[in-house]
Amino acid sequence: MTSAPRHKHLDEMRPWNDQVQVLECVAVLPETRDVMTFSFQTPDESWFRYHPGQFITLELPMPGGPMLRTYTLSSSPSRPLSVTVTVKAQAGSMASRWMFDNVREGVRLKAYGPAGIFTFHNHPADRYLFISAGSGITPMMSMTRWLYDYARHTDIKFIHCARSPSDIIFRAELERMAARVNDIDLAWIVERADPFDAWTGYKGRINSLMLELIASDYHEREIFCCGPAVFMQAVRDILNAAGFDMTHYHEESFSAPLAEELGPVGAEDVIPEEGKGARVVFATSGLEAACTETDTILQVAKGLGLNIPSACQFGVCGTCKTKKISGEVHMVHNGGIRDDEVEEGYILACCSKPIGRVEVEA
Ligand code: FES
Repeated sequence: MTSAPRHKHLDEMRPWNDQVQVLECVAVLPETRDVMTFSFQTPDESWFRYHPGQFITLELPMPGGPMLRTYTLSSSPSRPLSVTVTVKAQAGSMASRWMFDNVREGVRLKAYGPAGIFTFHNHPADRYLFISAGSGITPMMSMTRWLYDYARHTDIKFIHCARSPSDIIFRAELERMAARVNDIDLAWIVERADPFDAWTGYKGRINSLMLELIASDYHEREIFCCGPAVFMQAVRDILNAAGFDMTHYHEESFSAPLAEELGPVGAEDVIPEEGKGARVVFATSGLEAACTETDTILQVAKGLGLNIPSACQFGVCGTCKTKKISGEVHMVHNGGIRDDEVEEGYILACCSKPIGRVEVEA
């Protein structure tokens, strides 16, 4: 008889350290015809601390070389013994296809994060409206699971748009949660019904009339939206036309933000000067290079042939987090690093520019 591992209490376990970076797949669950959920733990039994709605970056050892891909966590930190990502096989996506074909129980992957600012923890409210389409449901699921587990009766209107009823991800679990509490109100909108099956819900694409019918008080709600770019644009158009106060609208986007959306420059910030010389020293590898103040640390590293892992390249995913040993950088990130990490001396190499001489661990 093999001796089963002793199950530990949470306070006997350490939080996952993304510097160690390894996750082990412990379960694979088919969700719909082209969506799978992958569940991960760490080989050394850590617990997971993150905000519902955040994402991780996985390093996939694909045949052409490692590929970094960012996936929102569909799990909730209220269930901290594992994390899950729910992946849709997008047409032409090599990474998702690789995940489907290769990630099985026991497979280990390098991972970075969690990171991201798309979470209601940054926008506490009594009433929320979650609007999603396709795999954009994953951060909404994480947030809804958290609020359900929290059990303080937060009012959630949950709108999800899918191609057909059988494409609705997490439908059974969401309906079970909604059946157990009074204040989760679900509305499915599908483009078409499944053949040989009855559909009595909304059909078509989301529009202002549907929004009014589903959540007539949406002007008083904190709105979170996630889905394809055209879908989020359509939702923004509906809300703008209705005069919604867009400071209460938040969306998840993995594409580079527009320049004017970057954070304000503080009075104390030193601004990099075009053409002004700088120097970056990489302490671990013993390399260094002259550059200008408008180069990023990541660009300088790449120029030396030094691999600092990176994914988004605009300060969102946190993959390129690196410790600064000395000197100053000008960093304009988009939520990929926490304030306490900055205080500890970490920077994001992809969006940090050296001011004078800078030494980093890498
Ligand atoms: S590569 Fe994503 S934050 Fe730097």
